[in-house]
Amino acid sequence: MHHYRFTCTKCCKNYVPNALNLRCEDCQGTLSVQYKFPTEQMSSFNYGEGISMPIPIPSPSDLVSLGEGNTPVLKLSKISNQLDLEIYAKLEFMNPTGSFKDRGTSMMISALRSMGVSEIVEDSSGNAGASVAAYSSKAEIKAHIFAPSSAPDTKLNQIKVYGSVLHSIDGSRDKTTEAAEAFAKEKKAIYASHNLSPFFIEGTKSFGYEIFNDFGKEIPENIIVPVGNGSLFLGIWKAITELDTQNLIGTKPSLHCIQAVNVNPIASPVPWNISQIAPTIAGGIAVGTPPRKSEVRKVLEESNGFANSVTEESIKEWQINLAKYEGIFCEPTSAAAFAGLENLVNRNRIDKAKRVLIPVTGSGLKDAFPE
Ligand SMILES: Cc1ncc(COP(=O)(O)O)c(C=O)c1O
Ligand SMILES: [Zn+2]
Repeated sequence: MHHYRFTCTKCCKNYVPNALNLRCEDCQGTLSVQYKFPTEQMSSFNYGEGISMPIPIPSPSDLVSLGEGNTPVLKLSKISNQLDLEIYAKLEFMNPTGSFKDRGTSMMISALRSMGVSEIVEDSSGNAGASVAAYSSKAEIKAHIFAPSSAPDTKLNQIKVYGSVLHSIDGSRDKTTEAAEAFAKEKKAIYASHNLSPFFIEGTKSFGYEIFNDFGKEIPENIIVPVGNGSLFLGIWKAITELDTQNLIGTKPSLHCIQAVNVNPIASPVPWNISQIAPTIAGGIAVGTPPRKSEVRKVLEESNGFANSVTEESIKEWQINLAKYEGIFCEPTSAAAFAGLENLVNRNRIDKAKRVLIPVTGSGLKDAFPE
């Protein structure tokens, strides 16, 4: 018997966990992990001083790990001075494959391996694919990774080097998802979509537990996240909610969601239509139909966060600013969060007396270099 269940995020129907189960059979809603017991009776990671994070694997020793997490936090002094507020960055590109995805992948691959899965299909803009490829090789799982042919060569080569089968798909990011789903169906293989798998968010939530330690329980009042499907955004909020259930948190932070003007199904100020989609250099957040969109909206509402859209020019500008002023070379998708911060500050959406934390989600070395 599992110590958790899957629950539909829409109609709340419960399911016995199963590697094939990615959506509610009744309403097609996305699924999330719900733990059955109090945290102290559960398989969990220890974050010190009685703080434990429940995990959906039989025991912590079942984790397939490449050393993910425990990323550094830096104060960004020059950018803080420029925008006149206190800004911190958590360097997620220092994870083993160069992006925050390793947190989610480690948990997803561990859970699937503990269920006896030996072959998977995944689709990605590049970073998650590289991450799934790496953890699959460690777990001795055969991985088919679908990625847009327009993804940077560095990411596509990274997927291949770990020994996965790369399926390069022409067209949009959404076309890649369709191709992966069709392949998994045809081959009767496990579709381990990091966007749909309830296990992925159980891994990304470690970010939230870490910042609780990084800041001595005084979590910054604002967290700004670049959002495509929302796996990091939702993982952080799940951590905050779990810490709150354990009565460990005072004031909960506001979570703000940043998207590119060219692909903003969540942040668009007018009703969004997929035909509005346009190319963006922020490939990681170029997701026209995010399956967890209503979950992201709910967190924005609960946390009093804002959704904001950023232009291509501002993304480029902030990628360079971060490198030039702070010595941080991130990919354009990650820079989008900083462009969003500038917008929110200019529109007085953020109180300058409060602190801001931004995950620097991916490495500049894996994407096209700024011109
Ligand atoms: C570097 C980077 N940042 C942010 C994101 C957005 O993550 P999510 O789609 O889970 O919201 C991605 C997704 O590919 C990414 O690669
Ligand atoms: Zn349902």
